[in-house]
Amino acid sequence: MFSLASLSLRLRAFGYRGDRRTMATVISGNKTSKLVRQRLTKEVEQMKTQFLGFRPSLVVLQVGDRDDSNLYISHKLKAAAEIGIDAKHVRLPNTATQDEVLRSIISVNENPSVHGLIVQLPLDSVNHIDNELITNAVAPEKDVDGLSCINAGKLSRGDLGDCFIPCTPNGCMELIRQTGVSVAGKHAVVIGRSKIVGAPMHDLLLWNHATVTTCHSKTPDLPVQVSRADILVVGAGRAEMVKGEWVKEGAVVIDCGINHVPDETKPSGKRVVGDVHYASANQRAGYITPVPGGVGPMTVAMLMENTVQSAQRFLLKNQPGR
Ligand code: GUN
Repeated sequence: MFSLASLSLRLRAFGYRGDRRTMATVISGNKTSKLVRQRLTKEVEQMKTQFLGFRPSLVVLQVGDRDDSNLYISHKLKAAAEIGIDAKHVRLPNTATQDEVLRSIISVNENPSVHGLIVQLPLDSVNHIDNELITNAVAPEKDVDGLSCINAGKLSRGDLGDCFIPCTPNGCMELIRQTGVSVAGKHAVVIGRSKIVGAPMHDLLLWNHATVTTCHSKTPDLPVQVSRADILVVGAGRAEMVKGEWVKEGAVVIDCGINHVPDETKPSGKRVVGDVHYASANQRAGYITPVPGGVGPMTVAMLMENTVQSAQRFLLKNQPGR
């Protein structure tokens, strides 16, 4: 026998909410990322005590001077400093050649005191630089962005314990976990197939046993696909493209978008919105991430997590007596 309250909770977990429109539960990336950062701070403190001042170390390599990259990098450096990770920002001018960028990467690859290396994307160079060549030049064991074909290949085969998982999809999974909704057996829909968000998100959901549909710019029936999603992850890079009416009642909606739209009521004349139309989706979803304060902070937290993990792997390899 179920009580009325427990019956209603069970029905809600299956997406049923009667004819009463309630707002979705907001999944806070700010809160979740803080918990992750607090846990990592303790782990780094323990490493320092156990291994005589040892600290995980991260290099962020930037080519050029894009405003958005400067902002993202400042968040990464701040989080690293708070956790106790030794993070270094290496800047190359926008006149740097592909060879110069490669030489910088190789010098970090060869430096045993660095455990993580990311090349901030997009590259801002006046010269032609092959992105693929650059991301694959990062040593796989230091590739804490998980973007090299070695790490991406392992993820696509389901070797989740033996690779670095790209930070944004990893953060999305953590936010989905927070809802308590199990991924196994659910229908997940991913919008976008980028190497940094959509493609690895597809793999992660698949290997967590969801049935996954990945949609992209050539998908003809996007609203229909979205309406089938128990779990919807959107990384399309288009402001408010997913409308609330498309969303299945009770779905988990994870919005990876960061878009600036004009807003005359703001002193800056603009505001940040996601790829999902939040106000309308909030009326149908069971759970939803806000923008800002959803996926963004999780991306930073997961980069820190990967860096600490890389340092732990380094210690395991180099401290055989442990
Ligand atoms: N640019 C925007 N997001 C990211 C990220 O997660 N990693 C890198 N390297 N560049 C980015």
